[in-house]
Amino acid sequence: MITNTEIEKRGNQYPNHIVEFKQENDKLFFTTQNGVILEITILRDSAIRFRYATEHVFEPDFSYAISDDVSLGYNDLDVKDEIPEYVITTSKIKIRVNKSNLKVQIVDLEDKVIIDDELGFHWEENYNYGGNIVKMGKVCHSGESYYGMGDKASHTNLKGKRVNNWATDSYAYGKDQEPLYKSIPFYVGLKEEIAYGVFFDNSFSTYFDFANEKRNVTSFWADGGEMNYYFFYGPKMNQVVEAYTDLTGLPELPPLWALGFHQSKWSYYPEKKVKDIASTFRKLKIPCDAIYLDIDYMEGFRCFTWDNKHFPNPKKMIEELEEDGFKTITMIDPGIKIDRDYWVYQQAMDNGFFCRRADGPHFKGKVWPGECKFPDFTDPEVREWWAGLYKEMIADMGVKGVWNDMNEPAIMEVPSKTANLDVRHDYDGHPCSHRKAHNVYGMQMVRATYEGVKKFMFPRRPFVLTRAAYSGTQRYCATWTGDNVATWEHLWIANVQMQRMCMSGYSFVGSDIGGFAEQPNGELFARWMQLAIFHPFCRVHSSGDHGDQEPWSFGDEITDIVRKYIELRYQLLPYLYTMFYKYINGGLPMLQSLVFYDQADTQTHFRTDEFLFGEQILVCPVQEPNAQGRRMYFPKGKWYNYWTDEVISGGVEKWVSAEIEIIPLFVKEGAMVPKYPVQQYVGEKEIKELQIDVYFKEGIENSEVYEDQQDGYDYKKGRYSLRKFRLRGKENELIIQQFKDGNFITSYEKFILTFHGLPFEIGTIELDNEIVDPKDIKLNGNNTIEVSKDFTELHLVGK
Ligand code: GLC
Repeated sequence: MITNTEIEKRGNQYPNHIVEFKQENDKLFFTTQNGVILEITILRDSAIRFRYATEHVFEPDFSYAISDDVSLGYNDLDVKDEIPEYVITTSKIKIRVNKSNLKVQIVDLEDKVIIDDELGFHWEENYNYGGNIVKMGKVCHSGESYYGMGDKASHTNLKGKRVNNWATDSYAYGKDQEPLYKSIPFYVGLKEEIAYGVFFDNSFSTYFDFANEKRNVTSFWADGGEMNYYFFYGPKMNQVVEAYTDLTGLPELPPLWALGFHQSKWSYYPEKKVKDIASTFRKLKIPCDAIYLDIDYMEGFRCFTWDNKHFPNPKKMIEELEEDGFKTITMIDPGIKIDRDYWVYQQAMDNGFFCRRADGPHFKGKVWPGECKFPDFTDPEVREWWAGLYKEMIADMGVKGVWNDMNEPAIMEVPSKTANLDVRHDYDGHPCSHRKAHNVYGMQMVRATYEGVKKFMFPRRPFVLTRAAYSGTQRYCATWTGDNVATWEHLWIANVQMQRMCMSGYSFVGSDIGGFAEQPNGELFARWMQLAIFHPFCRVHSSGDHGDQEPWSFGDEITDIVRKYIELRYQLLPYLYTMFYKYINGGLPMLQSLVFYDQADTQTHFRTDEFLFGEQILVCPVQEPNAQGRRMYFPKGKWYNYWTDEVISGGVEKWVSAEIEIIPLFVKEGAMVPKYPVQQYVGEKEIKELQIDVYFKEGIENSEVYEDQQDGYDYKKGRYSLRKFRLRGKENELIIQQFKDGNFITSYEKFILTFHGLPFEIGTIELDNEIVDPKDIKLNGNNTIEVSKDFTELHLVGK
């Protein structure tokens, strides 16, 4: 590594003044006297790419992050040659490029500064490796805040912090520990109510300093590669995140069962243990959809093999589990045991699929099986081979999902915890060292896994999970936050990490519930479960060295609480699935930090605990032992206490009581929350009616329910059902309109509507312009009615 003194000795280099300007359609090129070229690409009116070459030469333009489906096209583009700058105007923003120093300033159409170069682009020659350490300095304005950046275990607002992106195996990491497992070099800035985003698409080790070193400077740099970043203008945060996910892509819908509850441990074996765990779930009536086999199912930790002693007939076991409603999910790691008699090793050797060191020998590293070699997943041929290896496991054995771990890649017993930096990679035809490929290695592994699992699961949907990720990995799979610890602090970390990941375009995310290392007590486990049922991916996993961590491991009181919350998750499945649908169609994060919900309210800028589950449910976990309740902030709007129906007006911090069986949970007024009956697993019951909880509001609120076959791809051919409800409440009446889209026929015929906070006693009921006798459709008392799922307008008038 280059030392700081060396850097200081040689000093930064700067672009100097512009001597040439050229425009080629959507691309603008500014060349400076000392050979820097700034290329500005207008992707959309509010999405701009900035790229800098030194010595007049750009690198080949290639990135793993960018989606094939990125939308391009702008309305306006005007370039003016003025003094002292070039001014580029789109229909949303103006970009000023200073002629004397190449510094860039972006303003909105009212000339309000959004982002401003401080030192702007500068670089150091990288003496040890060649190329440059590329740097960008921006002004940090007072009151500016920073969010996003993937899995950082830090305060949601990163102002004052410095972070590093270098995928790292981080067993039992702590708060603020850097770097962690993922590399997502994307942040959302918020300056005077204007939100914008910066995505630094560089796979080398990258650093971001958010006014940590200097109070008024935010900078980012990389150990190599190009200064290549995208700027997204909001002005709303959701527009920024949506623009980022448009660029880096979104997943397809997972099978609905993947949104159920999952149980894992390192490791459940032998077969009898797996079956005992599964049957205990059923016996105790705790819903569960998936059970995991960690590394011990393999023969000596050899991937794609089975330990025949502990699993004499895996196919039969998987079938039996399936009959009981459990999907089996297996782990696959990247390290392939060096063993001449092992077919996977042989194939990779015969075909030259393993990574090599700079001078030719194979790269070797220790992982669970001992000395291993590592496939070069950045080679498309290797990915195709790897995808094919899943045939037996998925198509023949019946495994329903795959879990890729240690794919940073993690190497044991070396200080760097990973591959040597001189290791060579294909990088899809752009050969390079591990310095450049490290952060995408895990992503390319899980991409190959996804291709294989998808192919062999067809016509059903795949489920894949990864630990390491680079921007764009959200296209392929779910992810979890690695080896956390059973502490209260880690409950806090899990909460901020999930919000942060969602804000970073990666919504299908969860933590090891209860903590991976060490053992939680019952209270911590219950509190964690209360939070985690609101995380898109919901799985208990633990190391196994520290005692049992099944829902029933902590006594009856805790078992009952945990059951109640897992049941709530299953009830909320249609709401959660609708959230997922919205996420994949436009990028709306499934969880929203309060700042995301209302960026204009400065009270929200430094809140960490409260968040929105979807758009209408406000959650605030209890993160301390022995709590009877806690203080929490209510954002704008009115909120119904889920447990009591008490209504609270937002804009205040309040004490809410929350004994051990309660998590503070609130529903936005006007919301219509769809619910399924409790099932022990997805598909256990035919859904005979859709329960909808209607929260009265004086005014208007829209809600949606998305449904389809819960698996398969028919939804892509229009076989889905999207119901949009428009609720309008007045002092003495309530009108609900339904608009339907898609041609999937749901199994149920009716809705059961339960009204909360109705300020009047129902007098007349008009359904699609006909008066109905309340007696005919009212159920138990005043507040519940039963209506056909096809109604278009329901009109209730008070007595
Ligand atoms: C890693 C994973 C953990 C897994 C263990 C054994 O530590 O993060 O989830 O259980 O390896 O495979």
